[in-house]
Amino acid sequence: MEQKKRIVVFTGAGVSADSGIATFRDADGLWANYRIEEVCTPEALKNNRAKVIEFYNLRRKESLTKKPNEGHIAIAAMEEWADVCVITQNVDNLHEQAGSTRVVHLHGELMKLRSEKDPNLIYDINEGWEQSLDERGEDGALLRPHIVFFGEDVPMFALASRIVEQADILIVVGTSLAVYPAASLVYYVRDRQVPIYLIDPGTPDTSMIRNPLTHIKERGAVGVPQLVEKLREELK
Ligand code: APR
Repeated sequence: MEQKKRIVVFTGAGVSADSGIATFRDADGLWANYRIEEVCTPEALKNNRAKVIEFYNLRRKESLTKKPNEGHIAIAAMEEWADVCVITQNVDNLHEQAGSTRVVHLHGELMKLRSEKDPNLIYDINEGWEQSLDERGEDGALLRPHIVFFGEDVPMFALASRIVEQADILIVVGTSLAVYPAASLVYYVRDRQVPIYLIDPGTPDTSMIRNPLTHIKERGAVGVPQLVEKLREELK
């Protein structure tokens, strides 16, 4: 039996925009209403813990009301006929809710907390959305959102880059390609023949991409199902 094509889908906040979750850098984005220094840096957690915990509590509470959109669902459905891996910058779990079984979260996960002392001590928030200020792990240390803050390492990047190197096709959905090292993943494809598909109503900076690039200037909920159907036809 012919081996299934390996398709890597690299997503950003735009793939969840059609589920009603704000992106970061669009006009109505999160960073238009909050300062990164106040809620998404190690210094903020140290100097203003309550504000950081509240920020992620609010985002977690909001995420519980959101559902996967047709973009997430089409990506998950691709697993029927391709070897699919999702690498997301998003901290929501909408890819998993849509049925994707291989999801790498580069920037952490909203529904998880971890020890401030031992980064391997990670806890699921099984019910509700609230982390209390003084919650501690079994190591006695305070817990923090399991989120990669600006200025912190991206531990999953090495795995993600190896996954992209294996891709036969790279699909990029809803990311401004503004944040590194995540954005550099588009350059980890094994050679310049690997086709790259970009689905975004905006125009992220793809000027340095040398691979065959197809830009579908559509919202994810429209463009992703279109592309998935096209690829299914081509690859069957
Ligand atoms: N469908 C698809 N893409 C969309 C949609 C939509 N409905 N609406 C907006 N977009 C696109 C925008 O055009 C933009 O290219 O989604 C992208 C959103 O870019 P950002 O807001 O910068 O989000 P992202 O690229 O995921 O940010 C990367 O920055 O703040 C950090 O850690 C955070 O993971 C995040 C990282």
